[in-house]
Amino acid sequence: MPSRRQFLGTLAASCALPRVLHATGPAPLRLRAAPSRARIAPAGYPETDLWTFNGTMPGEELRLRQGERLRAELVNDLPQPTSVHWHGIRIDNAMDGVPGLTQDPVMPGERFSYEFDLPDAGTYWYHSHAQTVEQVERGLYGALIVEESDPPDVDADLVLVVDDMRLDRDAAITFDFDAPHDRSHAGRIGNAWLVNGQMDPRQKVRRGDRLRLRLINAANARVYVLGLMGMTGWTVALDGMPLAAPEPLEEQFLLAPAQRMDVIVDVTTDEAEAFLISLERDGGYAIATFDVDPGGAARGTAPAALPPNPGFPIDLANARTVPLLMEGGAMGGMSGAVLDGERQDMRGLAQQNVFWAFNGTVGRMGDYGIGDPLIEVDRGESVRIGIANDTAFDHAMHLHGMHFAEVRSDGSLGPLRDTLLVQRGETREIAFAAHNPGDWLFHCHMLAHHAAGMGTWLRVRG
Ligand code: C2O
Ligand code: CU
Repeated sequence: MPSRRQFLGTLAASCALPRVLHATGPAPLRLRAAPSRARIAPAGYPETDLWTFNGTMPGEELRLRQGERLRAELVNDLPQPTSVHWHGIRIDNAMDGVPGLTQDPVMPGERFSYEFDLPDAGTYWYHSHAQTVEQVERGLYGALIVEESDPPDVDADLVLVVDDMRLDRDAAITFDFDAPHDRSHAGRIGNAWLVNGQMDPRQKVRRGDRLRLRLINAANARVYVLGLMGMTGWTVALDGMPLAAPEPLEEQFLLAPAQRMDVIVDVTTDEAEAFLISLERDGGYAIATFDVDPGGAARGTAPAALPPNPGFPIDLANARTVPLLMEGGAMGGMSGAVLDGERQDMRGLAQQNVFWAFNGTVGRMGDYGIGDPLIEVDRGESVRIGIANDTAFDHAMHLHGMHFAEVRSDGSLGPLRDTLLVQRGETREIAFAAHNPGDWLFHCHMLAHHAAGMGTWLRVRG
């Protein structure tokens, strides 16, 4: 049994259940982005000041059916401009929530109405797409679940959003959001391990239960190495998209920032507890605990594959190709790059707190302009992007608006994803059918990396 993580010298003893699931009706939902407070740290510590959607972290869970239309009015009661990005949804471009690319930032006191169809079932999430290092860290994210019309037969469907938050000794979020060290190294890594906004939450299950667990990594930068103890099962979807066939779940698996994973597991342990564990350099720690009541025997048989979402075949042979060279960061050996149209050396870049480049250009988002697209294609064309990570760090590359598949070294296509972990030194290739017209961001989801230059975009002409 893994030992519990010590938090600020005190044994975490929180006992709260993960937030209750609920559905949204046909009426437009109000999503209020505003300051709030919650108990994050163990008893004895103060509450933590957060920024949240509708008062909780994660924000209100949105649960709809495939094919439904989501209507949400964002109300910005924050002291900063904001927006909402619906991560992984093959969305109407105008609703994608990227300030400076698809919409104007929603200023304090303003509102914005999001309204779009949900073409795909699966596990998605929504989060602020403005000042993300700060706004996502402070709690502006939530799960967006799109249910299949014929969902698999399970005893419970649980959302587990993992996050790590950087707290000080008073359980306050540290305000070093622009720290050059984070921006030039691995990003903002936290010291409080949260699942559904809580340290070591507990959930009751029964032995023999079949659970659908929807894992979402909402952390700024941490690549989780996760494991499930006391359960055995299968991965059935990645980044919302069903696998063609369920795959037996490994003992340990990676979940990079922004990635999701749906697993169907049977509670098989004879012990009184099962665990979601996070593996760190110094061992494995329970980050969520399942209290196991004695029950029946596990079903044992593998679940059926989830029904596929609408497909957009990728034409590898006739695809347009474009390289993406990732450079920069600490220990990266980049000599300089183009920033706002001017070539600068590393020292000049560092003075502006940017450290990374794609194909020799620093791609900051937000108030800085976004430069030229990586590639411009016609709707219906296929695109291949060869990604070379010539840096000393891992990067989680996320494409907005469309899912891609990895082109494996043998030429076959991997599962559909919207976020790919490209580890240090790796070269990987992705391909997708450009079926969704608009201007789509393609960036590293280590949020401090994006803020410090790891962003570009592409245009699909309609
Ligand atoms: Cu989840 Cu551009 O982000
Ligand atoms: Cu990165």
